[in-house]
Amino acid sequence: MLRYDGRRVIVTGAGSGIGQGIALRLLAEGAQLVAADISESGLAATRAAAPADQRDRLTTVVLNVADRDSVRTVSAQAFETLGGLDVLVNAAGIMRAGHTHEMPLETWNEVLAVNLTGTFLMIQSAIPQLIESKHGGVIVNFSSTAAFGSNPYMAAYAASKAGVNALTHAIALEYVKKGLRAVNIVPGGISTGITSGLSLPADADWSLMARLPGWIDGGQLGKPEDIAGVVAMAASDDGRYMTGTELRVDGGALM
Ligand SMILES: NC(=O)c1ccc[n+]([C@@H]2O[C@H](COP(=O)([O-])OP(=O)(O)OC[C@H]3O[C@@H](n4cnc5c(N)ncnc54)[C@H](O)[C@@H]3O)[C@@H](O)[C@H]2O)c1
Repeated sequence: MLRYDGRRVIVTGAGSGIGQGIALRLLAEGAQLVAADISESGLAATRAAAPADQRDRLTTVVLNVADRDSVRTVSAQAFETLGGLDVLVNAAGIMRAGHTHEMPLETWNEVLAVNLTGTFLMIQSAIPQLIESKHGGVIVNFSSTAAFGSNPYMAAYAASKAGVNALTHAIALEYVKKGLRAVNIVPGGISTGITSGLSLPADADWSLMARLPGWIDGGQLGKPEDIAGVVAMAASDDGRYMTGTELRVDGGALM
């Protein structure tokens, strides 16, 4: 299925996990794709994972979504490389865990800067391009089940993702008459760099985390491909009647 033939796409966070899975899926469906990440080695891994006959449609760029100048400079280069933009996927994100009453302000600010402000900066720079898309521009943002109350010890992360939910709804309505769609993906626990690097407080109460794993696959974490397929649908013409909404992909964790 080549739903992305001739579509120009930027994916942030494309050097690992979910973002990498999305980049590979959209490439396989024919996209012209810019994979952006703060990690150069992650981007090299994504390039290596792409089939050789698809690599000519893949450009990798180092980008810090939390830095306004980096976003401005690198996204302008990406628009030039692609000749415009049809789809923006904001998958870059970080997680920091700990007791809320002990959380340094720097940690709170860091999480909000990447997850929420970074999503805003990318959107702000991409909108003028997206509203020119002849296919109808699409923004896919990354929320989390954490925004719906299932993740203790992750207050900054949960707040950042709730902010992304609200941001998506606001822009979906603001630009609907310009043909722009915006959706939130709400993953549950997915096996990626974020989950493998998660460090909970030593005295964490695991009974509070019953809603972290899903039911599908017997409580195993999901895979990046489980999210990539849903994003591929939502940002393609198959999702054309969908905007300002959440797509929860959590193995039934929040049923
Ligand atoms: N894995 C899960 O269980 C889960 C659940 C819900 C939501 N999410 C969200 O999915 C998205 C993808 O995360 P993942 O699970 O694949 O994690 P991951 O750590 O595997 O990938 C995140 C990527 O974002 C990049 N990144 C971090 N800071 C950046 C910055 N300032 N600028 C540019 N790139 C930056 C990292 O280098 C990394 O490649 C995130 O927004 C995350 O919050 C993940």
